[in-house]
Parts: sequence; structure tokens; C-alpha cells
Amino acid sequence: MKKEIEYKEISAVLDKSLEGKTVHIHGWVYRKRDQKEMVFIIVRDSSDIIQAVVKKESVSKKVWEDALKISMESSCTLTGKIREDKRAPTGFELQAEDLEIVGLAERFPITKDLSEEFLREVRHLWLRSRKMTLVLEVRSAVFEAIHKFYAERGYFEVQSPSFTSAASEGGSTLFEVKYFDRKAYLTQSWQLYAEAMIFALEKIYCIAPSFRAEKSRTRRHLAEYWHHEMETAWMSFEDLLKFEEELIVFVAHYVAKKCARQLKELGRDTKELLELKTPFARMKYAEAIKRLGKKSGYDLTDEDERKLVADVGKPVFLTHFLREMKAFYMKVDPKDKKVVLAADLLIPGVGETTGGSSRIEDSKELEDSLKLFKLKKEDYAWYMDLRKFGSVPHAGFGLGVERLVMWLTKAEHIFDTIPFPRAMDRLTP
Ligand code: 4AD
Repeated sequence: MKKEIEYKEISAVLDKSLEGKTVHIHGWVYRKRDQKEMVFIIVRDSSDIIQAVVKKESVSKKVWEDALKISMESSCTLTGKIREDKRAPTGFELQAEDLEIVGLAERFPITKDLSEEFLREVRHLWLRSRKMTLVLEVRSAVFEAIHKFYAERGYFEVQSPSFTSAASEGGSTLFEVKYFDRKAYLTQSWQLYAEAMIFALEKIYCIAPSFRAEKSRTRRHLAEYWHHEMETAWMSFEDLLKFEEELIVFVAHYVAKKCARQLKELGRDTKELLELKTPFARMKYAEAIKRLGKKSGYDLTDEDERKLVADVGKPVFLTHFLREMKAFYMKVDPKDKKVVLAADLLIPGVGETTGGSSRIEDSKELEDSLKLFKLKKEDYAWYMDLRKFGSVPHAGFGLGVERLVMWLTKAEHIFDTIPFPRAMDRLTP
């Protein structure tokens, strides 16, 4: 029986102990340079890159012709000896003995200095770029870190439907869809369902897509984003803030350590992440608008948020918003009935990254709130029920995963943090 070829990851062959040994790798052509008697092919796979050299005198006629023919982004397999070479981009060179073209690429449309708009058009190809690869590796580590954080604290991961019959975060950003012969909406948040599930599981979380029909074109809004949400029975407002800051610090440290190489290559200094610690700053809405020289009722812009957090110099919870500015389910502050026990966490360079609150637990209060927000009682009948069967104080928050990735990678635009962004003017590829 023919022995299977053992292909190694490129990062695994960048190894001094393999000096002079023959290895097999596969990957894609990242760069290529032809000389008269030699062709240099830089090959990439998901783990790293390596320079391969094909010498006319050392290979068969077929291999030499293929080396001349192979184009950028072609897929190939290579066999050759490993040699340490300080001049090579990753310190080692593969001296090719055999080369097989697996998929010969047509002329690759992505070259240097292309517009952001063009790169979004060819997103399916741009995903292979070094920058996108690194960001997606960091993104994956963020999901990993969130799951780890909750597993260590005995939380349960639970899911909710994506089709919903009513809004949770206000009607202006609802996506309406045809649902058989009725109208339905794509979910804006897992929260209302989570509030039902805490009566069984008490400590729960999820990471799932949320949909917002955002009409604004900003650098931090998507129409479909990944929403990490948490809901906890018996949790106070102060404990909610402590929990959130612990999570952010945990994720920052985890990613800074696990993705040190990726962040360095992205030009992100990990010092800020590694030095991040609790507690974060806290500022009431009233104080924030005073600082900004605005009147009560003023809705902070993205820019205001970034300015505030830059002034404070570390993440800051903006709390105690006017009731009418926020969602119907938020608990009124017993000490000041005009404001709610809600907090948005502002992160440097990004602005709002989480939004959370204590929830109304009293049935009558919730009914009054629905009236105040001009919402139909019938639409929230099952949600109202939750206050009638052993209601408890509870709190939770939602975090935009892409916004967190923006901060971790210092991405300029939220589109740079998700493989296939969806926004008002972007539905393809
Ligand atoms: O503040 P939001 O709307 O809160 C909720 O949906 C609550 N139900 C969450 C909860 O308490 N369980 O959204 C939470 C976070 C925001 O802070 C922001 O980071 C992110 O979700 N977010 C978006 N991210 C990208 N694109 C958008 N269009 C976003 N809208 C909200």
C-alpha cells in the first residue's frame, strides 16, 4: 500500500531541528519572484509563511516549468529540505525538490493600494489577506474567551429564536419579515426570552446574531452583528457593573496573551490590554452632558462618547440615563424616579460597547412602563406573565462582539472585524 504523504503546517517546519530534513507542505502562493535560474515562491497557510526556492538545476523539467507558470494565490504542494536562512522572511527556506500545482489561479484581482470599497466588493477574496486573517484569529479568541469566562462561573449557554413577534429595543431598528401569512421581526436581542429562562437556570448567557435596521452609516454599526448577552437572577445593579468589567478585563488579558503575535503584526500594542484592570470609571448621564455642555435629554453621538472616554483615560460606565431615552424594561432608580438603573460601557476609540440594566420586576410597574412607551400590552403578554410567578430582581447586559474586536485590534471600521459585513448598503458578497 502506498504511504500517505504527511503534510506539515508551515509554522511546524520553521524549526531548527528539521535542518536538512525533507518535509511536505501545502498552501497558497503569497508572493513570487522569478530569476533566470531560480524561482522564489513564498507560500502561506493558516499558520504562517515560508520562502521556497526552486532551482532549475535541481528539479525536473516539469517542476521548473510549473514554478515559472504558478501564479499568485494558486494552491500547491511542495516537497523539499528545510534550511535556516536569516534572509528569508520567516528565517527558514524550503529547497524545493517537488512542486505540484493543485489549483492554478487566474490573475488575482487584489493588488496593492486598492480602495476600501473595492476590497469590500471582493471580500470573498480579501479574506485571505494577512490583515483579515489576523483579525479573524483574534475574533475567534474573543469567542473562546467569553465561553471560558462563563464556564468558570457556572453559567449556562442558552439560545432564543431569531424570529420574534415584538420589539425589545424599540421599533425604529426592526427588520420586518414575512412569516407564513403573518408579519414577524428579526431579533434585536435575546434578552426578553432570557428573562423567562432565568427562572429555571438563573445564570445564563449567549452569543448570537442580532439584527438592527440601522439607517445610519457609521463606522461602528452593522445590520447584523454578533451579540453577547448575559442575564442573571438576583443580581443588583452594582454587581452587574462589576461583572461586566471583570469580563472585559478577562477577555482583554486572554486575547493579549493568546494572540500576542497577531496583535503585534496588526500594530496593536498589547500593553494597554495587559495593564487593564478593574474598577472602570463610572459617570452619571447628568455629569456627562454637563461636561459636553449640553442640555438634559441630549442623546450622545458616537463622537461625544469617544471624546468622553478619551478624557477619562479608561473605560467608563455611563449610568442613570433619563427614563424616556432608554428601553421600556429598565428599572427606575428608587432614589430618582426620572432616571433608570442602566449603564452603557464606553471603550477607548470605540465608544458604547455594552448596554445593560436592572430590569423592572413588578407587574404593575411594567404595565405602566408599556403604557409610557406606547407599546401594546397584548404584544408583551407572556413577558408580563414573568412578573406574576415568583418575580425576582435581575439584571443583564448586551455586548457588541465586533465593537470589542474593533478595540482589541484597533480596527478603523467595524467592517474590518467580521468576515461578511451586513449593513444598509452592503448585502454582498
Ligand atoms: O444597547 P443595546 O441595544 O442593548 C440591548 O439590546 C439589550 N437588550 C442588551 C441586554 O441588556 N441584554 O445593544 C447592546 C450592544 C451595544 O452596546 C453595542 O455594543 C451593540 O450591542 N450594538 C451594535 N453593534 C453593532 N451594530 C449595531 N447596529 C449595534 N447595535 C447595538
